[in-house]
Amino acid sequence: MLNNEPKLLKDVLLYENGHIRRTKHILMVYSLAKSISSEEGLSLEQQQIVQSAAILHDIAIKKCKRKYNDASIEKQQLECIPVAKKFLKACNYVPSYTEKILNLIYHHHDYGACQGIEHQILIEADLIVNCLEHRNYREKAADVAVHFHTKTGKELLHKLMENKEIPSLNTLHDTVQETEDLPSIH
Ligand SMILES: [Fe+2]
Ligand SMILES: [Fe+2]
Repeated sequence: MLNNEPKLLKDVLLYENGHIRRTKHILMVYSLAKSISSEEGLSLEQQQIVQSAAILHDIAIKKCKRKYNDASIEKQQLECIPVAKKFLKACNYVPSYTEKILNLIYHHHDYGACQGIEHQILIEADLIVNCLEHRNYREKAADVAVHFHTKTGKELLHKLMENKEIPSLNTLHDTVQETEDLPSIH
């Protein structure tokens, strides 16, 4: 099967080896990317590219932490292409998909330099999840709202900003995990 997205998701989750925070992050970014790209009317090919990039977008973090003890954006950009390429090859991605997916992964933190609708949707899905993972998710959502341009992404983000629930969505368990991982924006 070409462009085998179900296998890609399974392979990446296995690679993360049960790491709770990263596993949850991947699944949430993937599901939001899928919903937003469909709601925004992307072609099937575009949807598959965004979804695959969502699965792989933080793939370099594990290697960067091991190799440098540093998963900064710069270190991730150094490592992400060869790691992601291996996963895509194992899942029979065609070159035209691979090239676009790698580009999205490499630029997924470049909020100010949008390269198209696929890039925009990956950024929005990732930022919404980053907000959900943040202790002060309402403030975080307000901070990142400037980066949202799709109707669907804005709708979803605004629900977070308007949420009056207290406390935030983080549990004590999540907070401990975050601390252990020295989180940055992923
Ligand atoms: Fe991320
Ligand atoms: Fe990231």
